[in-house]
Amino acid sequence: MQSPTILGNNSTDHLDLVREIEAGLLAESPSISPKFLYDPLGSHLFTAITLLPEYYPTNTEKDIFSRYENQIIDAIGVGGTLIDLGAGNCQKAESFFNSLKPSNYLAIDFSIEYLKDAVTKLAGKYPHIEMQCMGMDFSKQILIPESISDTKRMFFYPGSSIGNFLTSEALHLLRQIKNQAKGGGLLFGVDLMKEDAVLKLAYDDPLKITAAFNLNILNSVNSTLGSNFNIDQFDHKVIINHTENRVELFLEVLEKVTITWPGNSRVLNKGDLIHTENSHKYTVKSISELLKNAGFGKIQIWTDPKDYFAVVHAQ
Ligand code: TRP
Repeated sequence: MQSPTILGNNSTDHLDLVREIEAGLLAESPSISPKFLYDPLGSHLFTAITLLPEYYPTNTEKDIFSRYENQIIDAIGVGGTLIDLGAGNCQKAESFFNSLKPSNYLAIDFSIEYLKDAVTKLAGKYPHIEMQCMGMDFSKQILIPESISDTKRMFFYPGSSIGNFLTSEALHLLRQIKNQAKGGGLLFGVDLMKEDAVLKLAYDDPLKITAAFNLNILNSVNSTLGSNFNIDQFDHKVIINHTENRVELFLEVLEKVTITWPGNSRVLNKGDLIHTENSHKYTVKSISELLKNAGFGKIQIWTDPKDYFAVVHAQ
């Protein structure tokens, strides 16, 4: 069986992660980086979220992909290198293999461990596609190795994760993609602004799967940092911020607690909030402007009939 090339592992090391969590917990307004949501249990809980009827982004994106598949493939053009940002189990990219016919597939994710297995399986199934995988925290910097420079690069970033960046960070990321696309482009998903009631249910479902997902970040932090967070002392909280056009996710402190970990501690009072994630919601106009600012000239956007979500190709 052909096995994928592993292109080094630029994932952040343990000590950097510890320092990052510590800085967030000690800040005046405490926060935990959303990347700690995706430990093994968190990843499964997020998969469960994508199956909830209230969490419309996943299904809506899938509907747009299938409804406009021919137009999307025409926009991208076949062949070249498919670069999957946040590949996970590689399923979304795989669904494009037969129509896009990439000659190369580069899967990138935060953790190489999970990715290696997924890409190895894929390599066996598609022996004619050359496969590479890479561990990289691309939220800071995207650096595609020169070794795959000879073909057009098609960046693939589904699932509206672009909304989890501040607008300034999204602009930085988009500029880096534009500069490294070598004549190719970017296909991505973006969530659109809509009524509060729809957003509230999507981020606070009645089965409480989203609450479990958000609260589980404390277990994830406990195992990385060696801290003593107790889930019972926190609650999932959603705020819709219309000034910043985003859903803000927090953990609310239910009673005064002292969080301790090797070398430090933090007192949290009842009602304090720990920020865990922002999910920015765009409009067709605001996402087009951001892309133009990042240097993209040709932009095509497909939406669903309710205008809940957009699939965008930019070149
Ligand atoms: N990227 C997802 C989103 O913004 C992540 C997410 C969904 C999330 N539900 C959440 C993050 C609840 C924290 C808490 O839609």
